[in-house]
Amino acid sequence: MPENNRTRLLIARKVPAAVAKRAETEFHAFVTDADMDSQSVVEFCKQHDVPAVLIGKKSGLQAEHIAALPASVKIIANASAGVDHMDVAFAKARGIVVTNAPDALTECTADFSMLLVLAACRRASEYERIMRQGWGKSFGMTEMLGMRVNGKTLGIVGFGRIGRAVARRAQGFGMRVIYTDIQRAAPEVENGATFYSSFEDMLPHCQVLTLHVPGGGVPLMTKKEFGLLPKGAVFVNAARGGLVDEDALYEALTSGHLFGAGLDVYRNEPNVDPRFAGLDNVFLTPHMASATVETRDQMGFTALDNVAAVLDGRPALNRV
Ligand code: DGY
Repeated sequence: MPENNRTRLLIARKVPAAVAKRAETEFHAFVTDADMDSQSVVEFCKQHDVPAVLIGKKSGLQAEHIAALPASVKIIANASAGVDHMDVAFAKARGIVVTNAPDALTECTADFSMLLVLAACRRASEYERIMRQGWGKSFGMTEMLGMRVNGKTLGIVGFGRIGRAVARRAQGFGMRVIYTDIQRAAPEVENGATFYSSFEDMLPHCQVLTLHVPGGGVPLMTKKEFGLLPKGAVFVNAARGGLVDEDALYEALTSGHLFGAGLDVYRNEPNVDPRFAGLDNVFLTPHMASATVETRDQMGFTALDNVAAVLDGRPALNRV
């Protein structure tokens, strides 16, 4: 790695060009051109005594890595909303500020969640495959029918920034929105959505269910929860794969209990359970909900704003 005595920031994941440029200008950053692994991050920090590090999934820092960081490190900035690739509690205990980028990806992730809802309900994956194979046969009035979205009830698990942004979009499609969260939102935030204090009580009312909660812990969706959804429901997940027992999801999709699913996240990324690729009634994408030029720039800039604040002695903007 090139030497740079004035390096105040290690950018350990490949970031968009605009973000790299700002990092180099403002922080004399070392900007990697390929995602670094955790051990390389630790070694770099030790060699260069950097005060700030920007990491991603591949450079995730668990307790043993954080313990090995030099005392110079004051902030670990994440250009993502999720921080499940690092041990936040351990970093905090070492006095290191951890930040994320919660606002940057709200709109694009909500757009993408609606894309998954629409694609799963309207059989986009099957239709697209038919076209690529050459079509060749018109469909009759009763063939290859999807599920109407307008008028259906959408259940949202987690009414935070993204959950609320999905609600706004779903209402635009004429869906009735219900949601569950730890506590009820204020009426102006609810904006007509109906609150369920119990996740399990909400499930039987969800013709479409979408998850918008952080990952980690035991799966939220197991055989029991899929069983509580009404027959013919659609399941959408652009949050985290660890929220789902994938055997239970596979069974619900193959038994006909679920009409379909739209999935952007998986338990074992990027090596997804190959059984899902064999199902016609799933629309699959490779964890790309936030993947637009504008949002990826914004995610990086947010991380830099947090680094700037902490290095200037101000409070972080998005402390986790
Ligand atoms: C996030 O930021 O958590 C998104 O899932 C992209 O990784």
